[in-house]
Amino acid sequence: MDLPWTLHVLGLLCFLTSVVWSCPDRCVCQGTKVFCSGLSDFPKTVSSTSAGLYLSNCNISFLKPEDLTDLSNTLSIFVVIDTGLREVHPGTFDSTQNIGALGFTGTELQDLPEALFKNLLKLESMNLKSNKLLVLRPNWFSTLTALKNLDLSKNQFTSVPVETFQPLTELQYLLLSGNSISQISRETFKGLSKLQTLRLNKNVLKEFPLGSLDDLGNLQELSLQDNQITHLHPDLFSKTLRLQKLFLSKNRLTSLPQGVFLNLPLLSQISLYDNQLESLTPGVFGPMALRELWLYDNKLSRVEDDTFRNLTQLRLLVLSRNHISHVSTWAFRGLEQLGEVSLHTNLLKKLQAGTFQGLPSLVNISLEHNFISSLPSGFLQGLSHLGEIDLKNNSLPNLPQETLDALNVAQEVLLQQNPWNCNKDILPLRNWLRQNPSKTNQTLVVCETPFSLNGEVIALLADENLMPLSTTEEPAWTSTEKRKKPHTPPTRRSTSSPSVKTTPTSDHEEVTSGGQGQGENGTVSNDTSIILIIIAVVSTVIISTVIICCLCWRRNKKGRGDLSRRNKNSVL
Ligand SMILES: *[C@@H]1O[C@H](CO)[C@@H](O)[C@H](O)[C@H]1NC(C)=O
Ligand SMILES: *[C@@H]1O[C@H](CO)[C@@H](O)[C@H](O)[C@H]1NC(C)=O
Ligand SMILES: *[C@@H]1O[C@H](CO)[C@@H](O)[C@H](O)[C@H]1NC(C)=O
Ligand SMILES: *[C@@H]1O[C@H](CO)[C@@H](O)[C@H](O)[C@H]1NC(C)=O
Ligand SMILES: *[C@@H]1O[C@H](CO)[C@@H](O)[C@H](O)[C@H]1NC(C)=O
Ligand SMILES: *[C@@H]1O[C@H](CO)[C@@H](O)[C@H](O)[C@H]1NC(C)=O
Repeated sequence: MDLPWTLHVLGLLCFLTSVVWSCPDRCVCQGTKVFCSGLSDFPKTVSSTSAGLYLSNCNISFLKPEDLTDLSNTLSIFVVIDTGLREVHPGTFDSTQNIGALGFTGTELQDLPEALFKNLLKLESMNLKSNKLLVLRPNWFSTLTALKNLDLSKNQFTSVPVETFQPLTELQYLLLSGNSISQISRETFKGLSKLQTLRLNKNVLKEFPLGSLDDLGNLQELSLQDNQITHLHPDLFSKTLRLQKLFLSKNRLTSLPQGVFLNLPLLSQISLYDNQLESLTPGVFGPMALRELWLYDNKLSRVEDDTFRNLTQLRLLVLSRNHISHVSTWAFRGLEQLGEVSLHTNLLKKLQAGTFQGLPSLVNISLEHNFISSLPSGFLQGLSHLGEIDLKNNSLPNLPQETLDALNVAQEVLLQQNPWNCNKDILPLRNWLRQNPSKTNQTLVVCETPFSLNGEVIALLADENLMPLSTTEEPAWTSTEKRKKPHTPPTRRSTSSPSVKTTPTSDHEEVTSGGQGQGENGTVSNDTSIILIIIAVVSTVIISTVIICCLCWRRNKKGRGDLSRRNKNSVL
């Protein structure tokens, strides 16, 4: 009886053990990987065959060597995420020599022991992103010669000791973004000949020393945006022939030296927006695969001939929000693939004829928020399938027929918020708007002047609205008056001057044209007003004379036939 009982107990124990080892509470086990979250202690019963251990959102404040002893031979991935970890005791990783990937992210760690990783000779990937590490300790990495990926971003490092990365000859990705690093030395990246990606964005670098990139012959991405760099040495990139992406936006660059990007044949992305660039000259960009060039939020005042001539693959050129007042005729020469050019929010008053010639792929032109008051005839010559041209918020008073003919190549033309002056010169635009209702939103294109037409939709203006001084203005005599005075000459008085309206004459001489609501002043020049006043006064005198003569004549002729009525009117 004893033996079977013992066997039963042993069997039960084995069963229990296997259940317990199988997966700890609050953990999920998949193959040899264990994912735990919400733990308040390090999991004690992880199978000793586990290769990957991931702890997230746990309340574990320190790690000690004993935590990992059971896993020492098998563990190859160890990751702690979003956990209030404050301390990792020395020696914690001394026996876990097979770890290939290690990560602490989103912890409270401010420091790590100097020799913590010294035995991790197989480590290829280390992620220390988003912690509170204060000091970068070169000894952390001194033995990690297999390391390929190192992410140190979003910590509080202020400097990089010059020898920190020198043992890491296999390194391919080095991310240092989001720290407070103020200086890089010429030797910091020495020997990193396999490095492909170097990110130093969101730091406080003031310069990037010449020679610091010289060993990075395989560098493909360099992110330096969001620093305080004021200048670049012309030869800084002379050895990084494989660079594909270069991010320099949000710095304090005031100029780009001649030749700085001359030798980057594979460069396909560059960002330079939000700097203080005042000028840009030919000889900056060499032949390269660049498809987009972002230069907005700088201080450029001119775009010179041939500046972009080598950028034959450029699709998008963004020059908006600068201080550009002059775009040279050949500024965009060579940009055969250019699909969109953005020049909005600058100080342009006019454009050169032919500015967009030789750009067969151009689809969109944005020129809004400038001060353009006229467009040269043929200013879109050579363009065949323009999509959208945006001219809103400029200083255009009208558009002559040649310009409108040119605009016909565009599918969409934005014209609102211009000071359209609705006199007869607006007729070509009005007719064009009526003929091309699909090209523009007619209801938005409205007169600014004259005052009387302010806000009127131009497409709906009638001819007589536009030519108050010519003919067709029917004097608003009442019908009875018309009948009485069939020969009254058509008045010239366009009533555009108040003095005309108010000329007092006999009782039925009232010109009741108030309904026409003509512009009071402002719309007619002084000289014209004076002439009008003179004409008005003269015609009033003539008309009055005619009327008085008429009355006299009628009185004489009718004699007493009218006596009763006369009495009513006149005397007493
Ligand atoms: C984490 O553990 C500490 C004690 O170790 C405790 O005071 C705290 O309340 C715990 N926090 C959470 C969210 O469980
Ligand atoms: C185009 O690139 C060549 C180098 O290949 C350079 O000499 C030339 O100055 C560049 N042209 C312009 C207009 O930048
Ligand atoms: C032109 O603008 C339209 C609308 O904004 C956009 O969808 C299109 O991609 C642009 N075309 C090019 C070639 O940039
Ligand atoms: C019109 O353009 C001017 C000049 O760029 C700008 O200051 C203003 O804000 C623009 N107005 C609107 C309504 O966008
Ligand atoms: C034209 O603009 C007005 C006012 O913004 C808008 O209500 C209307 O939908 C627009 N029409 C078209 C066809 O886009
Ligand atoms: C006409 O001009 C006078 C002064 O010259 C000014 O007070 C008045 O506001 C102007 N009226 C209109 C409608 O512009």
